[in-house]
Amino acid sequence: MRMRPKKNREARLLKVENFFAVCDGEKIDVQQSFGEKRPLWLEIGCGKGAFAAAMSTRHPEVNYLAFERVIDVMLMAMERAAAEGCGNLRFCSCNAENICTLLEGEKLDRVFINFCDPWPKKRNAKRRLTSPLFLEKYKSLLAPGARIYFKTDNRDLFDYSVEQFDSCGYVAENVCYDLHASPLAEDNIQTEYEKTFSEKGFKINYLEAYVKE
Ligand SMILES: C[S@@+](CC[C@H](N)C(=O)[O-])C[C@H]1O[C@@H](n2cnc3c(N)ncnc32)[C@H](O)[C@@H]1O
Repeated sequence: MRMRPKKNREARLLKVENFFAVCDGEKIDVQQSFGEKRPLWLEIGCGKGAFAAAMSTRHPEVNYLAFERVIDVMLMAMERAAAEGCGNLRFCSCNAENICTLLEGEKLDRVFINFCDPWPKKRNAKRRLTSPLFLEKYKSLLAPGARIYFKTDNRDLFDYSVEQFDSCGYVAENVCYDLHASPLAEDNIQTEYEKTFSEKGFKINYLEAYVKE
């Protein structure tokens, strides 16, 4: 997501600093970040935060952590969280590549990957958030029975991801090539990208995956 650097970034970040996860630069202190131990849900690449705000509000019983690599995008998400009073939502500006160090010793109950960058060139395949490299990292952090929820408008990325989940020992469920036309649409919360692309006529692909016993 490209955008002009935000004016008054530091002052604006200060206003929403309560929404930062506590992190020493390497590892997130989940206990200190949320104060209370609850199931931990993670969204990777939250963008401007519409999904994170809505999901954390719908589920006050969980601790909802959102990763976003671009600080100016995350600032907008944090401002939204503050405006909507999302008390169980915290953000970390980081690259998900470092997830194992960031969340060392933690267990994730859900992971959301929404409209991640497709990295269409083969030489960049390792950067896809559903590449084997990433799927193995998630596996080491997932609690028993935990699920990954994945949505994308990009059919090539989706087909690739279905294959990778399978080859990395996950079971894919509710695999769906037109989420908005399916019964799953009822509970669906749309992300910013999802709204934009579905309005342009793109079908939304969706799956849930868990690690095979
Ligand atoms: C295409 S946007 C989608 C944003 C949002 N999920 C949505 O559906 O509207 C992908 C977002 O993921 C972030 N992102 C991409 N790779 C990432 C990574 N390795 N770690 C953290 N964030 C990442 C990007 O900065 C961008 O904001």
